[in-house]
Amino acid sequence: MAEKKVLCVGLVCLDIISVVERYPEEDTDTRCLSQRWQRGGNASNSCTVLSLLGAPCAFMGSLAPGHIADFIISDFSRRRIETSAVSWQTSGDTPCACCLVNISNGSRTVTLYDTNLPDVTAEDFQKVDLTRYKWIHWEGRNADEQMKMIQRVSDYNKSCPADQRISVSVEIEKEQEDLYQLFPCGEVVFVSKDVAQHFGFTSSAEAVVGLYPRVKNGAYLICAWAEQGADALGPDGRVLHSPSFPPEKIVDTLGAGDTFNASVIYALSKGQSMEEAITFGCRIAGKKCGIHGYDGIVS
Ligand code: ADP
Ligand code: FRU
Repeated sequence: MAEKKVLCVGLVCLDIISVVERYPEEDTDTRCLSQRWQRGGNASNSCTVLSLLGAPCAFMGSLAPGHIADFIISDFSRRRIETSAVSWQTSGDTPCACCLVNISNGSRTVTLYDTNLPDVTAEDFQKVDLTRYKWIHWEGRNADEQMKMIQRVSDYNKSCPADQRISVSVEIEKEQEDLYQLFPCGEVVFVSKDVAQHFGFTSSAEAVVGLYPRVKNGAYLICAWAEQGADALGPDGRVLHSPSFPPEKIVDTLGAGDTFNASVIYALSKGQSMEEAITFGCRIAGKKCGIHGYDGIVS
């Protein structure tokens, strides 16, 4: 039987990236240093990183047929990321983002058009053959539907031997009330700095302690905090910390969080401890910040 894969469910979009020397002033006409198209979206970026790390993986999300989707599908295939669970929509546009990457500090400023393409539903997820996956990661989006998908996995897990169960992780990245119902849904829950700050926390250690009552028994809560690294808290009550590993020069932080999530999932799925996993996550995310795109994160 083929090795079981990691499936990431969430957004794929086209990132049109302009690398600039400095952030432009409004209503000016300037040149950029370089420009490229890159497949983006949190779940899609995490697949890229999983694949570069050597983990067989698959993506599930929505696309609208057309030349943007053609570019995206061929890029998935170049990275050997399976796309059989992609849901082809008959209405709406493939999301597209305008991304400015400021080479002087690596900051990224994103304007995403992500409004009219329906997200994958629990009905779509019903068709997924769960026996093919060892880990499923959800980027929190249409949480009501995602709750039903996760319920299906938890029912499946009850019916199979321990060594065939699927691990579930979720990411709560946006400050949207409906996403907070996902806190009790994963064994591993990633919460972003933005959400943590929205709840009034000023560090990742504070955030994992303060938000821990929301996760389910036995789960781990993880919060990454840019140059301050990341913290995790699990059932033994010990707050685990990893520092960041900044590269010599930070050039591009677009997708740093997605890189961190994928690297943590990769390490945990290989049996590493949570402390090792967040440290690995910060190391690989640090490497990512020092390069444009993802090629080179494992060298
Ligand atoms: P994002 O803004 O993409 O969500 P985060 O701020 O959550 O990313 O950062 C994820 C991880 O990436 C951090 O834990 C850290 O390891 C690494 N990282 C991000 N920004 C920096 C930075 N400026 N310096 C060093 N590491 C960074
Ligand atoms: C990076 C990213 C980009 C995309 C944007 C969507 O985390 O997924 O690839 O344009 O965020 O919010």
